[in-house]
Amino acid sequence: MKIIMLGAPGAGKGTQAKMIADKYQVPHVSTGDIFRANIKNGTELGMEAKKYMDQGLLVPDELTVKILLDRVAQDDCKNGYVLDGFPRTIPQAEVLDKALTELGDKIDYAINVDVPDENIIKRMSGRRACLSCGATYHIEHIPPKKEGICDRCGSELVLRDDDKEETVKNRLDVYHKQTQPLIDFYTEKGVLKEVDGTRSMEEVFQAITEILG
Ligand code: AP5
Ligand code: MG
Repeated sequence: MKIIMLGAPGAGKGTQAKMIADKYQVPHVSTGDIFRANIKNGTELGMEAKKYMDQGLLVPDELTVKILLDRVAQDDCKNGYVLDGFPRTIPQAEVLDKALTELGDKIDYAINVDVPDENIIKRMSGRRACLSCGATYHIEHIPPKKEGICDRCGSELVLRDDDKEETVKNRLDVYHKQTQPLIDFYTEKGVLKEVDGTRSMEEVFQAITEILG
């Protein structure tokens, strides 16, 4: 099963993608997590990506596409995956489509987690992220068991550099201009599914499992 998570920054793509990955036993592939792991480890790719991410801009397609295609070519992605944060532009979607077509394959579902901009800004300031394992929490809605510590791996939780209010506004602008057109792209392919992302995390997941079966 090959799934794409669509939605604005902070819509809950990562939260839901992890739940899908656990239930359906497919890897959760997040380009944002891959970039953040590279920044943390001080790699050349990380340094390059950080320049864009800190401003709320997209990392250039050439760089992002290569990383994603390398990742999904790995063995654990043979039976499917859930993509979170990729594709984010029409050119990225076209490259993925072409790569899959060459393998006689296709995306099964593109799930759009719909949350209005007003709700997003509130969510982001409360988010805490684990840069080691990619888990995310919210200080009010989804708190970790021990404050500031990741339940899954015990690492320290941080406020992401790009979750400052000004940067979140830029990310929303970028989303509306560059990523929202993907909703039409996947509607035309007949794989788009909409879920209301303003509901609780469990209710959103329930709606997704009804779609995936
Ligand atoms: P990325 O890491 O993908 O960030 P994003 O799309 O901006 O999305 P977020 O991770 O901020 O939000 P999310 O939808 O995953 O929400 P979450 O589940 O955490 O990308 C970061 C940057 O990397 C980009 O800006 C770009 O520069 C670069 N990049 C990445 N991919 C790229 C690509 N393909 N091309 C180019 N550049 C790329 O939830 C948010 C918060 O809300 C959390 O605190 C969570 O606990 C809480 N929450 C979740 N669900 C609910 C709910 N139902 N109710 C209440 N709270 C909830
Ligand atoms: Mg995310």
